Amino acid sequence: MVKLHDLEFEPYLSHNEIQQAVKNLAQKIDEDYKGKTPIFLGILNGAFMFLSDLMKYYEGDCEVSFTKLASYEGTSSTGDVRTLLGAGNLKNRDVIVVEDIVDTGNTLEHIVAQLKTEAVASYKIASLFYKPEAYKKSLPIDYVGLEIPNKFIVGYGLDYDGLGRNISEIYQLK
Ligand code: IMP
Ligand code: MG
Repeated sequence: MVKLHDLEFEPYLSHNEIQQAVKNLAQKIDEDYKGKTPIFLGILNGAFMFLSDLMKYYEGDCEVSFTKLASYEGTSSTGDVRTLLGAGNLKNRDVIVVEDIVDTGNTLEHIVAQLKTEAVASYKIASLFYKPEAYKKSLPIDYVGLEIPNKFIVGYGLDYDGLGRNISEIYQLK
């Protein structure tokens, strides 16, 4: 059990379960991007740990970039997504957006709208976690690590008001 701010969390996914999901995703992406040099676009802050491991398992040529967005306050989405740091030049690139978790889909919709103005060659979405019960959009999520119930989680890059990102397993709100 861990306590972050005022809330208690209990163990949900082990280090090995997470690594297996990340490895599977890397292998699928590798197969789909043979002969290409995709650019992994990590969404900060949450995706930093996932992207770091994903790249270690990815064997083809690739590049990495980051963009920073924020939509969460506490344990619920505010619906208002702000871009805090641009991703650099993505023109004619095969972009793979790397998200820690897709919840309502607001963040994803915002990113996809931006990519459409950047003249990218192609884009796909990879998310380590996906909450189907919370998802309100129709955009396809191309690569999903694990589908999870609509419960708040922390660890492996995911936070509750800034805390918990450094936990190497996933914990769920009690
Ligand atoms: P969305 O815009 O509602 O899809 O939310 C996406 C963002 O909210 C993610 O990138 C996370 O940063 C954050 N988020 C959503 N669900 C959780 C959760 O269960 N724990 C921690 N952060 C979350
Ligand atoms: Mg986030």
